[in-house]
Amino acid sequence: MLDLKDKIKSLKKDLNALIVAHYYQRDEIVELADFCGDSLELAKRASSADNELIVFCGVSFMGQSVKLLSPKKRVIMPRLACCSMARMIDSSYFDKSIAKLESLGIEQSEIFPMTYINSNADVKAKVGKMNGVVCTSSNAAKIFDYALSLNKKIFFMPDRCLGVNLANKNHKKSSILGLSSDKTIKESEVICYDGFCSIHQLFSVSDIEFYREKYSDIIIVVHPECDPKVVDKADFSGSTSQIISFVANLPENAKVAVGTEFNLVNRLTKQNGNKENIFVLSSTKPECPTMNETSLEDLYNVMLSFKEDMPYNEVEVESDVIEYGARALNKMLELS
Ligand code: 13P
Ligand code: SF4
Repeated sequence: MLDLKDKIKSLKKDLNALIVAHYYQRDEIVELADFCGDSLELAKRASSADNELIVFCGVSFMGQSVKLLSPKKRVIMPRLACCSMARMIDSSYFDKSIAKLESLGIEQSEIFPMTYINSNADVKAKVGKMNGVVCTSSNAAKIFDYALSLNKKIFFMPDRCLGVNLANKNHKKSSILGLSSDKTIKESEVICYDGFCSIHQLFSVSDIEFYREKYSDIIIVVHPECDPKVVDKADFSGSTSQIISFVANLPENAKVAVGTEFNLVNRLTKQNGNKENIFVLSSTKPECPTMNETSLEDLYNVMLSFKEDMPYNEVEVESDVIEYGARALNKMLELS
C-alpha cells in the first residue's frame, strides 16, 4: 500500500508537474518539493520551467506571480492561502493613496510606485500601469537604487517596514501614509503604505537585548520585514534564502538568533549540526498561519482532482491584470 508521500510522487510523475514550495512551508511539504526557495527564486524557477503544470505550495501572491510571468502555464495551489500583508492593499486602496498624494500637491508624474512582491496581482497591475516596478526582499536594494535614480518620490507598498528600511539604508527621508503628517509626507522622498507583516512584528529590540545580554558574541539575523529599529540593531538582514546561506557560512560554533518564520528557523537548527547555537529571536512562536495551512492531504487532493479533470484552486488572473502586472514584474527581472 502506497503512503501519501508515494501517492503524491506518483501523481507528480503522471501529471509531469513541478512542485515548488516556499521555505516557510511545513517540513513534509518542503521534503516533497522539486524546488524550494525565496519569493524571487520561486517566481523565476517556476515560470521558466518546462513543466506546463506548477503546483505551488505557498501563499496566493506567489502563485499569481508565476501566472503573470508565464500565463500559459497552469498553476494550482493546495491551499489558496493569503499573505495577510498582501491583503492590506488592493487596487482601490492604491487609487485612494495616489489621490491622497495628489491632494497634497504631489503630481502623478512625480510618483514612482514600487510594490513588494507580497501584493496581489491587481496591485502589481496598477503599479505596472504607472510604469512602476516590483521588488522582493532579495533584490530590494538594487531595485531601490534604480528607483532613486529616477529622482521622483517613491511610493512603496505594502510593507512600511521594508520601505523605511530601504530609505534608512540610503539616508532618505521617509513617511507612512495614514501615520505621518501631511507636512512630513510632502517633504519625504520615500512614502510608504501602512502595511506590515504581523509575524515579523513579533521580533523586538528587547528580544535582541535579551540575547546580547545572555551571549555577548551572538549574531542577530533578521528578515527586512522586521521593524526598522530591529533591522538597525541586527548584524544581517536578508531574504529567506540569504538568511539560510548567511547562517550556513557562519563558523561552526557561532551563536545566532534568527528573526523570521518558525519553520525556516527550526529547519536551520536541524541542518546546521549544532542545534543549541541557533535560536528563534522571539519568546512567541513566530508562525505564519497561512503558510502553515498546506498539508500533505491538500497537496494530494489538489493533484488528484486535477488528474481527474476536476481542477480546483487554480490560479486565474484577468488578461488586463496580466498585461500590466507582468510589466512591473518583468521590469524587476530586467533590473535584478
Ligand atoms: P522571501 O522573499 O524572503 O522568501 O520572503 C517572503 C515572505 O513572505 C517573508 O515573510
Ligand atoms: Fe505574508 Fe508575513 Fe506570512 Fe510572509 S510571513 S507570507 S509576509 S504574512
